[in-house]
Amino acid sequence: MVSPKSVLFVCLGNICRSPLAEGAFRAAALRAGLVVEIDSAGTGGWHIGDAPDPRAQTEAARHGVDITGLRARQVERADFTRFSHIFALDEANLADLRRLAPSNATAQLMLLMDLLPDAAGQSVADPYYGGPEDFAQTWGEVSAAAEALVARLIQG
Ligand code: 4NP
Repeated sequence: MVSPKSVLFVCLGNICRSPLAEGAFRAAALRAGLVVEIDSAGTGGWHIGDAPDPRAQTEAARHGVDITGLRARQVERADFTRFSHIFALDEANLADLRRLAPSNATAQLMLLMDLLPDAAGQSVADPYYGGPEDFAQTWGEVSAAAEALVARLIQG
């Protein structure tokens, strides 16, 4: 069954950006009293079963969000009917998702930053080869998008 409000965040490895997006959105949804199924996944399979990157865990913790229990998984075909919305963290992820989507896909595919009018069309940069400041920037971007998503879902 497709829950009317079920969201999946997708990046490449599912250890940096999409776990931060998942954590930020879980926290924002909880604050707003919004009941919604939330998950994240990667288009790539290198990190399946791994916890989020320690730098991502640290950044989330700085904002009071615990993402240590998350484990990476790869996007699967069933995701395209299980979730109502799938948010790609960057353009390459979006292109990969469009390619992977089965013909019976029902999920709405979007670029995460399209939730923010001022940042529409932008990608969330991969912080994997960066430093703590890059993870802080990622948090800023995904948490702003998470707040916008909560507002949108509350409106219905
Ligand atoms: P993410 O970052 O897509 O934000 O999780 C990456 C993590 C790992 C790799 C690439 C990006 N990797 O190539 O292993």
